[in-house]
Amino acid sequence: MKVKNSEQTGLPRRKFIKGSAAAGAGLLILNSKTAFGYSANSSMGLGILGCGGRGNYDGGEFVKNTDVRVTALMDLFEDRLESTKARFDKMAEEKGQSKIESSNLHRGWRSYEKLLESKDVDVVLITSPPYFHPEQFEAAVDAGKHVYLEKPVATDVAGCLRVMKAGKKAEGKVSVHVGFQKRYDVGYRAIIEKIHGGEIGDIALGQSYYFTNDLGRQNKPGMSDIEARIRNWVFDKALSGDIITEQNIHIIDIVNWAMKSHPVKVSGSGGRVVRKQVDGIPNDFVTFDHYILTYFYPGDVKVSFNSNQFRNKGYREQGERFFGTLGVADTLQSGPATITLSKDQGIKVFDSPVDLHAAVGTKMKALIDGIKAGKFENQVEQGAETTLSTIMGRMAAHSGTEVTWDKMLKSNDKWNLKLNLDSLSGGAVSMK
Ligand SMILES: NC(=O)c1ccc[n+]([C@@H]2O[C@H](COP(=O)([O-])OP(=O)(O)OC[C@H]3O[C@@H](n4cnc5c(N)ncnc54)[C@H](O)[C@@H]3O)[C@@H](O)[C@H]2O)c1
Repeated sequence: MKVKNSEQTGLPRRKFIKGSAAAGAGLLILNSKTAFGYSANSSMGLGILGCGGRGNYDGGEFVKNTDVRVTALMDLFEDRLESTKARFDKMAEEKGQSKIESSNLHRGWRSYEKLLESKDVDVVLITSPPYFHPEQFEAAVDAGKHVYLEKPVATDVAGCLRVMKAGKKAEGKVSVHVGFQKRYDVGYRAIIEKIHGGEIGDIALGQSYYFTNDLGRQNKPGMSDIEARIRNWVFDKALSGDIITEQNIHIIDIVNWAMKSHPVKVSGSGGRVVRKQVDGIPNDFVTFDHYILTYFYPGDVKVSFNSNQFRNKGYREQGERFFGTLGVADTLQSGPATITLSKDQGIKVFDSPVDLHAAVGTKMKALIDGIKAGKFENQVEQGAETTLSTIMGRMAAHSGTEVTWDKMLKSNDKWNLKLNLDSLSGGAVSMK
């Protein structure tokens, strides 16, 4: 597709705000302007780093639930840029907004720097493979952009510490959300509130699990080794952090939330029993296909964790169960979220549906409303703490030894990708 500079996009966004004011609508707009430069009537520009499944989904939820416009895209591959541009241009057209300008399309692994220079970008959505999150997040904060950073915040301890440092710099200056949408779900929120309110008494034991299916391969014949590896990043320990850090993390986040703490130590195991190898991924780097761990929380509360990515033929179950001194709380990703109190108090059941799709929209709206109100949120510490909790579990399973929080933090855990990404850098985008 050919994208022309200004005629398809209309006036640049910032000029539009000023122009409208000059045209007479200004009083209203100026009155609603916050001290932070965003008006309740103005739309912010969203730049997406990583235009795959989640970049498209999250971006779409921003557009559907807020007045944010997608203004810039960055990826390593032209097909991803092309399909993503087509999707968001269509959404923009339906809302009477301008399309993405060709000058705001960026290809190549370092081209996030170009996207961050753009005045058309106010909020950055980071949906690249997790290995790249620390570098891209740090640069986004340095560029003064608000950020929606998908989980996990990093794949190793060094990356988490780097993200935490950048998160500190962001405090009070820009908003940062991390992609734990369950924290915005009505069912999950109600249960956690009840747990924290003491309804099941003190948590004495927990069980958590994430069983799902093997994932689709993205490599195609004719791709270079490096492209095949990047396309299949979910099966690569260095790029993804392994299944516990990349995917199962949502479960550990709920456990930490319920426990109001991170685990103090973990022991357990894992391995590759069904998915022993993956095309395009060096054997040393192929992720585990299952984990089985015991997390220890303060007060010697033990929480079991078990996950797999087997060929389960559609069987999929994810949840958390907390056994308290007074009753039981049970949250299932597919819903419902329940509380059952013990018989001698009279059976009392709380039951709420779970709607994670709605939760994503609620979260996007909360981020944008907060920015417009000048209430800058910062979810970095929580996001990093949960990511570190998964890394601690991964270390225990990979090493076969018990790992404490302190040992994990002092471990110098750092993945080395050993890839020359420059060979994928494409320079100018040449979409037809
Ligand atoms: N919150 C959730 O429930 C949820 C769900 C799915 C994925 N995610 C997260 O979203 C992120 C992306 O996952 P996905 O499922 O969209 O993967 P994906 O493979 O569909 O998309 C990733 C995109 O990033 C591109 N990319 C590769 N290297 C890049 C780089 N250096 N810079 C920019 N882009 C690069 C790829 O070409 C691809 O288009 C991951 O962090 C993942 O864990 C979160």
